[in-house]
Amino acid sequence: MASLEDVPSETIMSELLRRLRCSTKPDKRLILIGPPGSGKGTQSPIIKDEYCLCHLATGDMLRAAVSSKTPLGIKAKEAMDQGALVSDDLVVGIIDEAMKKPSCQKGFILDGFPRTVAQAEKLDEMLKKQGVKVDKVLNFAIDDAILEERITGRWIHPSSGRTYHTKFAPPKVPGVDDVTGEPLIQRKDDTAAVLKSRLQAFHSQTEPVINYYSKKGIVASLHAEKQPKDVTEEVQKVLSS
Ligand code: AP5
Repeated sequence: MASLEDVPSETIMSELLRRLRCSTKPDKRLILIGPPGSGKGTQSPIIKDEYCLCHLATGDMLRAAVSSKTPLGIKAKEAMDQGALVSDDLVVGIIDEAMKKPSCQKGFILDGFPRTVAQAEKLDEMLKKQGVKVDKVLNFAIDDAILEERITGRWIHPSSGRTYHTKFAPPKVPGVDDVTGEPLIQRKDDTAAVLKSRLQAFHSQTEPVINYYSKKGIVASLHAEKQPKDVTEEVQKVLSS
């Protein structure tokens, strides 16, 4: 870790101001559920900044493990390439570990987890041990027919996770990240063929999770087919109520 003396004063000041602003925010524990391409990853950074939460995206964590060829990544790769779900034990383990990070102190946004009822039950157990519970589940409701164009047009800056779309959110220069100027990539599972399997997994294994939380009265459904800024407005309304 760099010595504090080597960190520029503006960086320290802006971090102090951020922490001061965050100390006035209420704790929040949120789950974002929706099919591939419904906008979970697009809205998460906005919610994260507004409420000072940590953003835990199991898909991003698994892709990082695959690209660095860790034992977890080697086990997860085949299922991910085919658009199937990775085993519950693997993802529960990574979430359990990730939630202990200091950045999760004021709560978290779970993006892509839980994806099965078994994962939801495990999460409840983990949170019960900490004496806390999920506050809200945001259901990104959208028609399947809209998703192919969103998924096949998506481009990603791998190291920051910034997401672009050739039509809906194009970078300033095609194929290049706006901030770093580094090249953008497409995800291996972002093809029309793999999307079919991902949607099948969503409808059969993840939709029951929405019912699981509906019974607890904490699900808010969003119109995820709207423009990104309109979806952000809906999210803000739900979270401030
Ligand atoms: P994961 O990475 O979680 O993928 P996903 O759920 O399929 O979600 P996406 O990242 O594809 O969609 P998104 O909703 O974030 O869309 P985005 O905002 O980027 O999972 C990948 C794989 O990992 C799984 O298949 C599985 O194998 C494994 N896995 C992960 N978690 C697991 C778990 N818990 N259990 C087991 N296995 C697990 O938007 C998409 C595009 O649309 C972007 O280009 C964006 O710019 C654009 N866009 C966004 N919003 C709008 C809008 N409102 N209007 C127009 N365009 C928009």
